[in-house]
Amino acid sequence: MSTTTRLTLRRPDDWHLHLRDDEMLKGILPSTSENFGRAIIMPNLVPPVVSAKDAKAYRERIMAALPEGHDFTPLMTLYLTETTDPQDVAEAAKSGLISAVKLYPAGATTNSQSGVRDFENVSNVLEKMAEIGLPLCVHGEVTDADVDIFDREAVFIDRILDPMRKRFPQLKVVMEHITTKDGVDYAKSGGDNLAATITTHHLIINRNDILVGGIKPHFYCLPVAKREEHRLALVAAATSGSPRFFLGTDSAPHRDERKVCGCGCAGIFTAINTMSCLAHVFENEGALDQLEAFTSLNGPAFYGMAANERTIELVKCDAPVEFPSHIHTGDGSVTVFDPGFPLHWKAINNPS
Ligand code: NCD
Ligand code: ZN
Repeated sequence: MSTTTRLTLRRPDDWHLHLRDDEMLKGILPSTSENFGRAIIMPNLVPPVVSAKDAKAYRERIMAALPEGHDFTPLMTLYLTETTDPQDVAEAAKSGLISAVKLYPAGATTNSQSGVRDFENVSNVLEKMAEIGLPLCVHGEVTDADVDIFDREAVFIDRILDPMRKRFPQLKVVMEHITTKDGVDYAKSGGDNLAATITTHHLIINRNDILVGGIKPHFYCLPVAKREEHRLALVAAATSGSPRFFLGTDSAPHRDERKVCGCGCAGIFTAINTMSCLAHVFENEGALDQLEAFTSLNGPAFYGMAANERTIELVKCDAPVEFPSHIHTGDGSVTVFDPGFPLHWKAINNPS
């Protein structure tokens, strides 16, 4: 049997990324712009990116932080609030400034205080988005105190997502960073208007990795990793080649003091070694031939965009590929995701 040791892929895109701002942005942006053509940029800054004006200014700050020679396009999003103006959204979409709107249930995750409490109050925006074909990226977790954190995704699907999709059947919805078999099954059951992103880390860690043998703050993210059976469902979905599933790393840097402390932030920084991690996961499944669909084809197809023209090479090396354990930014040090196994696949950019 011949073993693949070299693979050419269309340049990947990241359909869910946190780039932050200021010194953190400058420090971590190159990890993405080195290997990725585009990324959907999360709007959960403090204060959040809520208007077209905010998105334009943020886009400019990202472009100003981009290293010389890097070929990267940020795809901007607006943070949906109960006072979002449907007209502002429609104009921002029409001008090409934004590619999606992000729905955070209030209190679901880092910087989500301004999120939606009463879904009735955003129905005018959802109606407009359905009409113009603008995707809604959904953080699918309920925040009710009486719902166990490990059940929040499944409950969200039943209580919020399914009724919303029935009310707005034309609305394009991305279930972001799904973590459960329930999420996989629901994404499969929808029509062409439904897709789901899967992160790198949820393909690799389960909840034991966070909690057994001591608490591992650098494996803590939201939605929190679930049982092994759910991780296996995610791996099966990602490697299946189904156009419903594509990569959204949810790479979410926090400086180390905010991760390792009495009340640590949620978020895992995977941007820099994601392609190596994914090649490992897909190789283990005997599915390297599906990697390009997951990282480079299914996402643009759902968003109605062309795949990137440029390509990257993944090369399997005998010696493990070295990644820094930390990225030192002007805002502090950020720990790089440690998958717990050596990485042998190296991503190399092909010239345009
Ligand atoms: C994200 C962050 O830090 O902004 N954290 C995370 O654990 N994924 C927020 C989010 O996307 O939920
Ligand atoms: Zn996120």
